[in-house]
Amino acid sequence: MRTAALDGTTLERLVSAAVAAPSIHNTQPWRFRLDPETLTVEIRAAKHRGLPHIDPKGRALHLSVGCAVLNLRVAVEHFGWEPVTRLLPRPDEPDLLATVRLGATARMPSHTSLYEAVWRRHSSRFPFSERQLPTALLTELAEAAHVEGARLHCLSPRRADGVLLLTREAEHRNITDVDRAKDSRRWVGEMCDTGLGMPSEVLGLQDSTERVPMRDFGAHRHQNGLTARPFERRPSLAVLSTAHDRRADWMRAGQALERVLLVATARGVRASLLHQALEWSDLREQLVAPTPARSAHAQMVIRLGYGPEGPASPRCDAAPLSASGG
Ligand SMILES: Cc1cc2nc3c(=O)[nH]c(=O)nc-3n(C[C@H](O)[C@H](O)[C@H](O)COP(=O)(O)O)c2cc1C
Repeated sequence: MRTAALDGTTLERLVSAAVAAPSIHNTQPWRFRLDPETLTVEIRAAKHRGLPHIDPKGRALHLSVGCAVLNLRVAVEHFGWEPVTRLLPRPDEPDLLATVRLGATARMPSHTSLYEAVWRRHSSRFPFSERQLPTALLTELAEAAHVEGARLHCLSPRRADGVLLLTREAEHRNITDVDRAKDSRRWVGEMCDTGLGMPSEVLGLQDSTERVPMRDFGAHRHQNGLTARPFERRPSLAVLSTAHDRRADWMRAGQALERVLLVATARGVRASLLHQALEWSDLREQLVAPTPARSAHAQMVIRLGYGPEGPASPRCDAAPLSASGG
């Protein structure tokens, strides 16, 4: 049985695990506060780190925070507590996106492989090999999404072609839209000294065959330009979706996304995200095919495969986040 005491070192590990989560443009749009009375970690939106033109409704911000919540839950469980999670717990405090209470001491620590994956997961914006993912693994990833209340649909080559087409169109719009390009460039340049944003070494490569539309974060304005190399001919793509499209669904989608990414990491599979088509409502609608029986709202396009590990991106220091209480 593990001890239930929460010391400063453990608190620092919990918050570090949370902030290791992916976030759009590495904006890390979250704030943490511990209520020591109830051993509850509050997670709030840091709205000043939002992307006003790319993500005006804050959907991607909620997804990013959802990813951090999942990591926090995994870490809480790793250290021996049962994480008791509430999404949007106080309607009069819309910025409070979730609380995770350190509940009863769990008998057996679980999720060890997921906890290890928290530290090893990075976006890999490199070409992947042509090796296809085993069906059993795709099923496991779909189950991971299902556990968190979302659906992961692994695309046939024909559907993948359609999604790549939509993503290419979105990428073209993104780099020609002056406001969105400005939004993006801010996080490639000036924010990088603060432990936020995207330094040039993580920006990755472009596909010389122009098949996989990797995101141009600098919107045609990288200082050194991006190197082009051929990417895999048959990219393995999956679309994550939810039945509804409210703020709580975005938070669930974030947790599902991160669980999928952690399971993939634990199985030696790399991933990069292709979010561009999600940022244009007409293109987003076409990412999923709703049936008469079920509505579906696309939340993320995930590219999966075997290839080099991505470089670690910077993070804000976790210590001031937890110590400042805000
Ligand atoms: C909602 C969301 C949207 C994202 N969109 C993209 C994208 O379109 N292209 C991309 O390469 N990475 C995308 N990412 C990944 C982030 O850029 C990445 O998580 C962040 O830079 C931190 O790096 P890491 O994932 O290596 O820890 C997205 C992440 C989230 C959570």
